[in-house]
Amino acid sequence: MTSAQSSDDLLAANLARWEEQVDIHVGSDFYRVKEFLEGESSLDPIVLGEIGDVRGRRLLHLQCHFGLDTLSLARLGAEVTGLDFSPKAIAAAETLARDAGINARFICARVDEARAKAGTGYDVVFSSWGALMWLPDLAVWARNIAACLAPGGMFYLAEGHPITWTFEDESDRIEDNFRIVRSYFLEGPQQWENAHDYAEPDVKLAHFKSNEWQHTLAEVVSALAEAGLRIEFLHEHDRLPWPAVPGMVRVDEHYFMAPEGAPAMPLSYSVKARKA
Ligand SMILES: C[S@@+](CC[C@H](N)C(=O)[O-])C[C@H]1O[C@@H](n2cnc3c(N)ncnc32)[C@H](O)[C@@H]1O
Repeated sequence: MTSAQSSDDLLAANLARWEEQVDIHVGSDFYRVKEFLEGESSLDPIVLGEIGDVRGRRLLHLQCHFGLDTLSLARLGAEVTGLDFSPKAIAAAETLARDAGINARFICARVDEARAKAGTGYDVVFSSWGALMWLPDLAVWARNIAACLAPGGMFYLAEGHPITWTFEDESDRIEDNFRIVRSYFLEGPQQWENAHDYAEPDVKLAHFKSNEWQHTLAEVVSALAEAGLRIEFLHEHDRLPWPAVPGMVRVDEHYFMAPEGAPAMPLSYSVKARKA
């Protein structure tokens, strides 16, 4: 990062990319909006099996994208608020809520503004899949979560495992992938130039630059603990909703796993934590 690139500049580049991706994602097979409107839940078995009963709970979804998971949580009975920094994502979420006939509130704000813009007193704060790498400062993230939660409130996170960042992903030989070739411990933003959209591989994005932060598992758990949350569990899983490493194989409608013969590795993790 050059000194001219403030955290605001880095997030602005990310925002431009996310703004471009919204319409692409709403129309993609990856997000299954048609199936959602027909009544299908966008939530996967890991989340559904771990989050617990959210009926009647005030729930805040951080980085809600265009609201699919937020609205699926509303269908489980939660009173939902979704927050995302992309105006296009928030507009698409509001349209989707109207089309699905679901009552929901959406707020356009950055995660570091969550307490100020979304308020406090939530029973549940929720975040999942592909969220944390966009955040420069997990201490600020965790403090906002703690401030938004009511006493006794619960935070739930399901996320890609940081170990997946370390694997070879440029080899033509699938058997070379899942070899560790990059450092697990990396300071500062990783600046990527990649026109590939994870949901629509044939699309070439005009906004091909992104800034991402490689937060370790220890950083995530420590940030939550230091913000005053008590960790109830940290689980590691052998599957992930997207093929983070070339050669991963689809095992069902929700997940990809390492191919047969690759060493068993955690590919995702989930955390539940509670405010005292
Ligand atoms: C992969 S998506 C969210 C994951 C969600 N499970 C999904 O797939 O729909 C990441 C979201 O984070 C949002 N985002 C990125 N940086 C953000 C920030 N600093 N504050 C708020 N939202 C942010 C993006 O706009 C995007 O909608």
